[in-house]
Amino acid sequence: MSSSWHPLISEDQFPAEGKLAAKLAGWHVLVGRGEHGFHAVNDRCTHQAALLSGGRIRRGAVMCPLHGARFELASGTCIGGAYRNLRVFPLRVEGGLIEVCVPDSPPGLDESPVITG
Ligand code: FES
Repeated sequence: MSSSWHPLISEDQFPAEGKLAAKLAGWHVLVGRGEHGFHAVNDRCTHQAALLSGGRIRRGAVMCPLHGARFELASGTCIGGAYRNLRVFPLRVEGGLIEVCVPDSPPGLDESPVITG
């Protein structure tokens, strides 16, 4: 499956709250500032498909706002709950610009968040 890099935001304009949600090529992407830089994961909890971007980021992990599962941003590993790990997207900073690489094909239902509201 082919993938492409997408420019997102300047490093110095990254939100102070430490997270940014974006839609790239149909993928819901959560970019978070971890303890050692930025990371990008699929913005979909592997429990019941909630958007993770509504959750808090602390010590390099995001907490699902629905039932509290926690996932490491760097690895996608579920560390608070017994759920599947998150898909992690490659991220790079080129000339101060944060770029994320996502598959060119949009996600199926099994990788899309449930959008409410
Ligand atoms: S939907 Fe995320 S923990 Fe239940």
